[in-house]
Amino acid sequence: MAVERTLVIVKPDAVKKNAIGDIVRILQENDLKLLAIKMVHLSKEQAKKFYIVHKDRPFYDELTDFMSSGPCVPMVFEGEDAIARVREIIGATDPAKAAEGTIRKKYGTDVGRNAVHASDSHESAAYEIPFFFNALEIHE
Ligand code: CMP
Repeated sequence: MAVERTLVIVKPDAVKKNAIGDIVRILQENDLKLLAIKMVHLSKEQAKKFYIVHKDRPFYDELTDFMSSGPCVPMVFEGEDAIARVREIIGATDPAKAAEGTIRKKYGTDVGRNAVHASDSHESAAYEIPFFFNALEIHE
């Protein structure tokens, strides 16, 4: 196991549900250290750039409409095996399939409005962290 950094986003649906604090608390209580956090309202173009890996998927337009529909809260967390562990803590992409006790089970509505995003690999973390944060905004 190695210490890793991962990008987590509290999506617009969970911001509207006042779930930011609870989501940060759950991650911190799992030995994940919060290194960076901000609130941003993405434009449609910015959302398309962030999710460029999904550009050929049928849900790309719906996903980027939703992600630009209101403010979201990107964050960087660090910890042992953080990428895989955070994905376990947030649960399956579809909240209906997410395990009991996961963030998506608690706050997700459907596969589109699923409360949180988290990097799924080292490669995506390496793209997603600098998408939102420069070096001065990440606190060791
Ligand atoms: P996320 O972890 O942000 O990564 C890509 C997102 O695409 C995913 O969470 C879902 O919210 C979204 N997504 C995946 N499948 C669908 C779908 N069938 N319809 C709408 N959105 C989807």
